[in-house]
Amino acid sequence: MSKVGFCAFVCLLFVCCCCFCCSKAMSTKVNPEAVNERPVIGILTQLVSSEDMKPFGRTYIPASYVKYIEAGGSRVMPIRLTHTTTEYENIFRKINGLIFIGGVANLETSDFARVAKIFYRLALTANDAGDFFPIWGTCMGMQLLTVLVAGENLLTKTTAENISMPLNLTEEAYTSRMFEGFPSDLLKALTQEPLTGNFHKYGVTVETFQENEKLQSFYNILSTNVAENEVNFVSTMEAKRYPFYGVQWHPEVNRFQWSSSRNFPHSHNAVRLSSLLADFFVNEGRRSLHKFDNPEEEASSLIYNYTPVFAGNFSGYEQVYFF
Ligand SMILES: *[C@@H]1O[C@H](CO)[C@@H](O)[C@H](O)[C@H]1NC(C)=O
Ligand SMILES: *[C@@H]1O[C@H](CO)[C@@H](O)[C@H](O)[C@H]1NC(C)=O
Ligand SMILES: *[C@@H]1O[C@H](CO)[C@@H](O)[C@H](O)[C@H]1NC(C)=O
Repeated sequence: MSKVGFCAFVCLLFVCCCCFCCSKAMSTKVNPEAVNERPVIGILTQLVSSEDMKPFGRTYIPASYVKYIEAGGSRVMPIRLTHTTTEYENIFRKINGLIFIGGVANLETSDFARVAKIFYRLALTANDAGDFFPIWGTCMGMQLLTVLVAGENLLTKTTAENISMPLNLTEEAYTSRMFEGFPSDLLKALTQEPLTGNFHKYGVTVETFQENEKLQSFYNILSTNVAENEVNFVSTMEAKRYPFYGVQWHPEVNRFQWSSSRNFPHSHNAVRLSSLLADFFVNEGRRSLHKFDNPEEEASSLIYNYTPVFAGNFSGYEQVYFF
């Protein structure tokens, strides 16, 4: 049986320019790229695995991820796992970025993995052709981004469950796109204060990453952490030539999840970290000019067509969208 990427903290099962120039001499900064100020970020729905959540639907998105993206200045389109490849190709032409969220799913054989692979390939091709399209993976979503690049599941036990930690930033972090806009005091706090919530059993060790030619040439490691079993795992990464980003921890919980039985970081710096990363990713989305065919199609595709369910009494989330 192939390894399953457990990253569900939750249901937790306990498993689980325009530049106005006065003179030519002053025209220093002209941005040739058009900017899309009405981005829509897709969130791939996650398979329900917890018994408590099954009565509500087959797939779900915790509202925390939706709020996270909305707070960055974007709208959200939930993407179900039941479409055909052609339908996903159509959706791809309309959205401006994509998020793979945490959860519990087989990273090679599940519907979640199958659909993610379709979008990943479309994004590679688009970016190669100059059609900018960002992807972000959180927790199991980041694990999936390693499987998609390596072509195999390289996860091993790297348990860090219900623990907040500082990040051990690498040299690359200081020249990365992800952390470029961070004030220096926050970057420093990131290395000293427990600002990142971890809820995972598996991950990619630094050793595995460094021994894998495909991962090594595709991504830069931006941070590492030490797991309960003392192995060093990759906790943050960004692709060298593509706008693809992965975090093994959960930036959305810092602002949008409050279960007192979970170790969620809620300090001022933790909130700043969460805000800046959402701001960063949504801004990547503004560089994508994909759009819906018409306002009606757009309106009917957005998350506003759904109502989240109160889930605080049967999951680690306060609110969940079910599909
Ligand atoms: C931080 O990462 C470096 C390698 O980048 C490693 O040598 C060091 O042991 C790590 N320290 C901690 C506390 O994880
Ligand atoms: C998670 O950690 C918090 C804070 O340390 C603790 O109060 C809580 O009991 C833990 N929850 C679980 C499920 O272990
Ligand atoms: C959770 O709370 C809602 C609203 O109070 C209630 O309708 C529902 O039955 C509760 N669910 C469980 C599993 O306790």
